[in-house]
Amino acid sequence: MREGSAPLIRREDYTAPAYTIRQAELTFDLDAAKTIVASKLSVQRDTAQDKQPLRLHGEDLNLLRVLVDGQSVAFRHEDGLLVLEAPEADSFTLEIRNTIAPEKNTQLSGLYASGSGLFTQCEAEGFRRITYFLDRPDVMATFTVTLRADKAKYPVLLSNGNLVGQGELDGGRHFAVWNDPFPKPSYLFALVAADLVRREQRVTSRSGQEHLLQIYVKRGDLEKTEHAMNSLIASIIWDEHRFGLPLDLERFMIVAVDDFNMGAMENKGLNIFNTKFVLASPATATDDDFDGIESVVGHEYFHNWTGNRITCRDWFQLSLKEGLTVFRDQEFSMDMSGSASARAVRRIADVSSLRERQFTEDAGAMAHPVRPDAYQAIDNFYTPTIYEKGAEVVRMMHTLVGRAGFAAGMKLYFQRHDGQAVTCDDFAQAIADANPDSTLAQQLPLFKRWYSQAGTPRLQARGQWDADNATYTLTLSQHTPATPGQSAKQPQLLPVRMGLVGRDGQPVALQLQGEAGAAGTERVLVLTEAEQRFVFTGVTQDVVPSLLRGFSAPVLLDDGLGDAELLVLLAHDADAFNRWEASQRLAVHRLRAAVQGSGAVQLDEAYLGALRALLLDPVLDPSFKARALQLPVETYLAELITPVDPQRIHAACESWLDQVAACLQADWAATFDAMQVREGYRPDATQSGQRALANLALAMLVRHAVATGDAVWPGRAFQRVKDATNMTDRLGALEALVNAHAPLAQPALERFLALAGTEALVVDKWFQVQARAAEKDGRVFARVRQLLQHPQFTLSNPNRARSVLSSLVMFNPAAFHRSDAAGYVLWADMVIALDAANPQLASRIARALDRWTALAEPYRSAAREAIARVAASTRLSGDVREIVTRALD
Ligand code: ARG
Ligand code: ZN
Repeated sequence: MREGSAPLIRREDYTAPAYTIRQAELTFDLDAAKTIVASKLSVQRDTAQDKQPLRLHGEDLNLLRVLVDGQSVAFRHEDGLLVLEAPEADSFTLEIRNTIAPEKNTQLSGLYASGSGLFTQCEAEGFRRITYFLDRPDVMATFTVTLRADKAKYPVLLSNGNLVGQGELDGGRHFAVWNDPFPKPSYLFALVAADLVRREQRVTSRSGQEHLLQIYVKRGDLEKTEHAMNSLIASIIWDEHRFGLPLDLERFMIVAVDDFNMGAMENKGLNIFNTKFVLASPATATDDDFDGIESVVGHEYFHNWTGNRITCRDWFQLSLKEGLTVFRDQEFSMDMSGSASARAVRRIADVSSLRERQFTEDAGAMAHPVRPDAYQAIDNFYTPTIYEKGAEVVRMMHTLVGRAGFAAGMKLYFQRHDGQAVTCDDFAQAIADANPDSTLAQQLPLFKRWYSQAGTPRLQARGQWDADNATYTLTLSQHTPATPGQSAKQPQLLPVRMGLVGRDGQPVALQLQGEAGAAGTERVLVLTEAEQRFVFTGVTQDVVPSLLRGFSAPVLLDDGLGDAELLVLLAHDADAFNRWEASQRLAVHRLRAAVQGSGAVQLDEAYLGALRALLLDPVLDPSFKARALQLPVETYLAELITPVDPQRIHAACESWLDQVAACLQADWAATFDAMQVREGYRPDATQSGQRALANLALAMLVRHAVATGDAVWPGRAFQRVKDATNMTDRLGALEALVNAHAPLAQPALERFLALAGTEALVVDKWFQVQARAAEKDGRVFARVRQLLQHPQFTLSNPNRARSVLSSLVMFNPAAFHRSDAAGYVLWADMVIALDAANPQLASRIARALDRWTALAEPYRSAAREAIARVAASTRLSGDVREIVTRALD
């Protein structure tokens, strides 16, 4: 077990490996109680370095023997490493035999049991829990893997690469031999032994090569794999088309597993997925679930090039593969969604997620650069900063060099580094070198501060129209607040995509002083200094600046715009993202005033009129309307309205909802009817937009009905829970009843659970709806306590545990942050209990109090006390220890 305080690992201490492993032959005698692992490794010493002992990683292993070139050798255990004195020869064969106990592996890292099957998760450092190895990403070997197991229990035996042999053995056992010709680091190793069925399809790529695609799931789940297979095929086509990157494998497999710490894993040729990101039918999955599957299938597939063909030199470079691959999956989802408006809605969703998760992280105890300088537990660094901010950094490069320039940069990156383990610097250099005349190339060291500086930059913008000279002067300035361990920040390079909008809503031509050439109505200004001025000429009317279009840089913008200007942008901005942004800011202005004032919002006619116009606009997409008519989540509002009083923020949001529900009642009713989908279910952008807006309307209608004692809309919602033909409608209706605390909520919940039957992912939703429900008089928190005792609840399945615990502590601030501190007490108990079994899962939950210093009293002191109680626990994993120590620092 990892226990106690792990040492700090620093990026600057990186050294190349003293030994490397060229080939690995692994043989597994698989058994849930005791698996025997025999490994035969061709090891080579780096003769350029001084001779050192061979140090192998290993964790929770039972070692049986060690041979070097067939001879037994002396070894010792030191700091969790297996140490052998340097053998005479520069290359030698190392043979190791050990056993492991998969069924006792509750951490779900390494080889573990899920249901009746055996599965692996090796990233980041799980391979060392299978056998002794140089478990670091810059050691790459080709693997030949022999799997032997009971045939009845484990009819399917899979590993990376190609199946090169299989057959029967005595005693009802069988074997399979897999060979992966691509050298890979151990974190990309995978094996599966289970009783599974598969959907398969053969496809031919552009070059004429044939590929076999397979998706393995439990019996009974096969009909729910069609969308995943379609997504995989679409991913293959997209990567070839957009980046010229073809599938390099004869066989590409996806396996779904019930118990999984994360979303999915890109093991070479054998992706292993949380069932949540594979299984979908209209009856069990929402539109969002369908989208999630498309993007995660894409993400893992795209890793085959960005991650597997070129991998990371060390784990500090994690964003090299994750930021880039998130950027790629975001682009894929946008390209798949069709219209320009659907693309904008995707961007809105991605930016919302970035601000809700990453901005919060960047402001808190765990703030770290996209390329961190130090860590204790690497699993703690699979963060929104590495993934989502990392993707924004790649997106800014894309903005600076253009789409074709970026494609050229990717090409150069693969020419230079295919087959290597490299750094974030190598990537940025390739993109810059392919675009020598770009701002990126000219300002590369400045741009790379995005990799080294933590914290969200603040961008301030102030405009001044000079009527006499017909000029408009825009002054942009920036600063980044201090983050733990980084007090002084330097200016960063900020691409600001922008336009100027006349008060009449018309776009204004942009002519910068001293610049010749035709003027367009949109351009990218690049801020490189702490402060810069941009003077536009020929501006004959006062204008509203529309800045940071499409969220062209991951910053917090203060443009000082008031309601009148925001209403112009909301109604007229040519950029859909900024129209949405205006809607959010108009709401935030009112919520902030309420939180800092009387507690309840006072919605004015101009604002309500704008909302009504938006709702009834005949041109706008329903999906856009649904986004623009929704409030920012309360965790993000907490970043904007400090000191954070979660109860007052919640009360303000509730009063906004009450008023918008009441004042627009007739419009919501008309919208609900107009948004009914009459054709058969398709999870596409058009239909899902209609369903999203219908669900929003229904939530408003039920809320208002419950407030006024009307029974019609709750009755219709209840009917919908019973009769809906798809999960989006059913769940939407259930949420409407539960969030409004309607009397029909309880019978609806009972009906929903009965309909869920044994569909685990649907039962997860049942738990989640209740744990995320809008808090009212402590009822939701009380319900969560009961749910933890429910016969279908368990801490040992990560999805189920998260459906209640993450829902409460990460997504339901008003239920969690209580003045009696009961939420924090529960949090501390759960972190400690979970940590004993699954440190990675516990550590995620532990992060719920990262932002405790921003809380108002009495929350702040109570939160600190709870964190201190966890920190005082003697048996903590290194993972949780790192989180609580940082929080208290
Ligand atoms: N590389 C995987 C992905 O992003 C995630 C693996 C996470 N593993 C972990 N131990 N945190 O697709
Ligand atoms: Zn990834």
